[in-house]
Amino acid sequence: MALATLTEHKVWDRTTRIFHWINLLAMLVLIACGVALLNAKALGATNDGKILLKTIHVYAGYVFAINLAWRLVWAFVGGPFARWRSLLPFGKGYMAALKSYVSGEKTSYLGHNPLGRMAVTLLLIALTVQAVTGLVLAGTDIYYPPFGGMILEWIAAPGVDPSTIVPYDRSLVNPEAYEDMRAFRSDFLFTHENNFYVILTLVVLHIAAVVWTDNRHGGGIISAMFTGRKALSEKPEDAID
Ligand code: HEM
Repeated sequence: MALATLTEHKVWDRTTRIFHWINLLAMLVLIACGVALLNAKALGATNDGKILLKTIHVYAGYVFAINLAWRLVWAFVGGPFARWRSLLPFGKGYMAALKSYVSGEKTSYLGHNPLGRMAVTLLLIALTVQAVTGLVLAGTDIYYPPFGGMILEWIAAPGVDPSTIVPYDRSLVNPEAYEDMRAFRSDFLFTHENNFYVILTLVVLHIAAVVWTDNRHGGGIISAMFTGRKALSEKPEDAID
């Protein structure tokens, strides 16, 4: 049996690869702290323990949110396979490409295959929702930037210097404003918590799909996220040279 000749192609630029691995590391910390927060009572966490967990979660959240924001900007200015055109599941020829990918007819892709484009778009939306709701929660829970200052001004009792208010101490807050602020944040908490389960589902699907695609169609797509290169035996559908 003749062995297929593999040709190496450049695909993921350095920024995309760095984003991917920082995102993974930040998410591991965020998920670990998130799970601990969800089970804080069962774990017997004290108030101080909870504040510490939240603080670590928020610092990891800043890394995650800045990294994600940079990736969203990179989709406008980065390499051809990092751009929206190669990410979003629509545009010229997308439906035809999806049909022939699903039917097993044309499966060689350098960038994301048509199903991968759906998955990546869903992931980016879910991660953005998590970052935005997380930043609001950081402001309304432990008064951290970027919204913490505004929240403190909202809830400070008349004549109180907002910067003297500490998390969970209600002695210096205006009770009515505090209740309004808690009501305002509840939808964000609901979304942050439920979107967490959506993210976990998408992450499991993402890993399963990557492993399946690599086994089935090859290309070394897992190592490509380290090296930036894929090795393909056929000319990819989305070749640019
Ligand atoms: C993939 C990213 C993230 C995941 C998976 C995640 C997950 C979670 C989970 C499971 C909780 C527990 C919810 C609860 O106690 O009901 C939580 C709470 C929290 N998260 Fe995140 N989070 C992420 C990103 C962020 C970001 C970017 C920030 C802000 C910088 C943030 C700030 C917070 C805060 C302040 C809380 C405490 C909310 C409260 O108990 O009032 N999170 N997160």
